[in-house]
Amino acid sequence: MSIDEKADVEAQAREARPTTSLLNTRIIAIANQKGGVGKTTTAINLATAMAAVGQKVLIVDLDPQGNASTGLGIDRAARKLSSYDVVLGAATLREAVVPSAIPGLDIVPSTVDLSAAELELIDLPRRTFRLKDVFAQCPGVYDFVLIDCPPALGLLTLNALVGADAVLVPLQCEFFALEGLSHLIRTIERIKINFNPRLEIQGVVLTMFDKRNNLSDQVAADVRGYLGEKVYQTVIPRNVRMSEAPSFGKPALLYDHRCAGSEAYISLARELLRRETELRAA
Ligand SMILES: Nc1ncnc2c1ncn2[C@@H]1O[C@H](COP(=O)(O)OP(=O)(O)OP(=O)(O)O)[C@@H](O)[C@H]1O
Ligand SMILES: [Mg+2]
Repeated sequence: MSIDEKADVEAQAREARPTTSLLNTRIIAIANQKGGVGKTTTAINLATAMAAVGQKVLIVDLDPQGNASTGLGIDRAARKLSSYDVVLGAATLREAVVPSAIPGLDIVPSTVDLSAAELELIDLPRRTFRLKDVFAQCPGVYDFVLIDCPPALGLLTLNALVGADAVLVPLQCEFFALEGLSHLIRTIERIKINFNPRLEIQGVVLTMFDKRNNLSDQVAADVRGYLGEKVYQTVIPRNVRMSEAPSFGKPALLYDHRCAGSEAYISLARELLRRETELRAA
């Protein structure tokens, strides 16, 4: 069943529930169905940069690959409870939270078990509202929850988009980027209509930008023409230090805070927090 069909079927069956999320907590899903575009790198480094300026941040690793958990140095042994248990209702969010080495940054880790959740969820009640219901039970101790989504538009990503206030889309400037983006935007619109009226695109961030490649410039110009101010001014450059950091279990911001990639994520955090402050004031 496609995500659109699922949306139709479930919209008819769903119960009406209040749509408010955690008081004062902004829940942002980091999503793009395309693989390897920088979702996890953005989740880890944006969260680190936000925590560094005093925000209390929780990453929910919703990808069975567990890259956000590994990239934050969370040992397999420390993943006794995971996002799988949370989504399936076997643990509360609070029980599954593990502190990271960065003050102010916690994570709900994931394990490979989560890959079974896509199938197991199908037979569960409120299968698209599992995360939303979990967030509703959690006291608002975080300023931000960032959900690192898997590279697919299956039930896990659907749960993230139903439970979130907004979506941040990392976009790699390459040939099929716009096509993938318009598919994602159509999906977001369907979710907004059927499940989560408050869902908005928080922003689009251009990642792994290669200034020597003319195509990067062209795609960036097209994306800005299409989505205007939703696209962050900050562009994340392709930078080898960014790809080295995860193997040390550290955000690039700790591994080498002076590299061009780290500086870009600090700038992105600043821009995002400014945008969030303006949104709250509006
Ligand atoms: N700015 C960057 N410069 C160089 N390499 C990067 C950069 N950002 C991410 N990478 C590397 O590119 C690869 C893909 O990045 P990442 O894992 O963040 O993407 P993803 O969208 O989360 O992937 P998936 O869809 O598999 O979850 C990783 O090896 C990562 O280290
Ligand atoms: Mg990832």
